[in-house]
Amino acid sequence: MALNPVDISGSRVLLAGPGGQVAAPIVEALAPICELTAVARFSDEAQRQRLQALGVHTVRGDLADHRSLRDCPADVDYVLNLAVVKSGDFNYDMRANAEGIGNLMAHCRSAKAVLHFSSTAVYEYAGHEPRSEDAPLGDNHRAMFPTYSLSKIAAESVCRFAARQYDIPTTIARLSVPYGNNGGWPFFHLLMMKEGMPIDVHPESPNYYNLLHSSDYIDKLPYLLAAADSDVCTLNFGGSEAVSIEQWCRYLGEMCGLEPSFRDNPQAFGSLQIDTEKMHSVIGETQKDWRQGLREMVQQLAPELIRD
Ligand SMILES: NC(=O)c1ccc[n+]([C@@H]2O[C@H](COP(=O)([O-])OP(=O)(O)OC[C@H]3O[C@@H](n4cnc5c(N)ncnc54)[C@H](OP(=O)(O)O)[C@@H]3O)[C@@H](O)[C@H]2O)c1
Repeated sequence: MALNPVDISGSRVLLAGPGGQVAAPIVEALAPICELTAVARFSDEAQRQRLQALGVHTVRGDLADHRSLRDCPADVDYVLNLAVVKSGDFNYDMRANAEGIGNLMAHCRSAKAVLHFSSTAVYEYAGHEPRSEDAPLGDNHRAMFPTYSLSKIAAESVCRFAARQYDIPTTIARLSVPYGNNGGWPFFHLLMMKEGMPIDVHPESPNYYNLLHSSDYIDKLPYLLAAADSDVCTLNFGGSEAVSIEQWCRYLGEMCGLEPSFRDNPQAFGSLQIDTEKMHSVIGETQKDWRQGLREMVQQLAPELIRD
């Protein structure tokens, strides 16, 4: 491991987007050890109350509107941006996703590090070629989420601009496929299999991704923060082992006595395997075996389906 991880315990952290799939396990891990403030629109008041019960200070704010962030603490040690919106409205999604990270960074200029979560959806489709961080960008997820890839690409640029302008050490982590005991894409596939629904896959199969378990992305947080640089460290962030949709669906099928049915669809997201070389050199390998992670997920969310 090249880097010494930062010691996040006792630090002041501002986290945007606490209610999301990826953020929820991070909030649970950080709430007991940090002074954690979470900002979101909190359309779901119950979610806000659950966070407050964990000891998280909550601020209602919309990243699209910098004035609404004024109640966020500015003198934090670390900023984690896990907010994202996919409303389909280009004006709003560009503001919230792209200007949003700029608004956060302009508000927290003295942060020791900013960690902005991006996505491998920023890469242009390139078949089975593992994508390195300097691979061409493209509108990868257009067919299903029209504003997503473009606004995530724009967000990265705003993030780099703010890091350089305000001299804020920053890491951009391009997530592959996060999952864990609170679900994720493979769990949707399992639910589809249970209902006998076909799973659309790109015809250039197998369709490889890098499943990233929540225990690994939590373990790697202090390393990602340590990697932050005002010239911005951009990293792929996925499981060290690539695994295809077809493989994980077959494995879930064997576990639950279900037969996945795949349907070729050129509009489906194609293979998006990451090149892990830079990630491994900066933050090291991930630990969780994907089969074990998937089994734990099903044990937690749908134990009644397990047959083996
Ligand atoms: N989930 C995946 O499979 C996946 C894959 C690759 C990358 N990622 C990346 O991981 C990060 C988290 O994704 P996720 O899927 O966990 O997100 P999510 O489940 O959609 O949750 C998004 C969070 O952002 C908040 N939010 C949305 N719009 C906001 C706004 N305008 N201002 C303030 N907060 C706002 C939401 O709360 P309110 O609605 O209450 O504001 C919610 O807490 C994102 O950067 C995403 O691009 C996710």
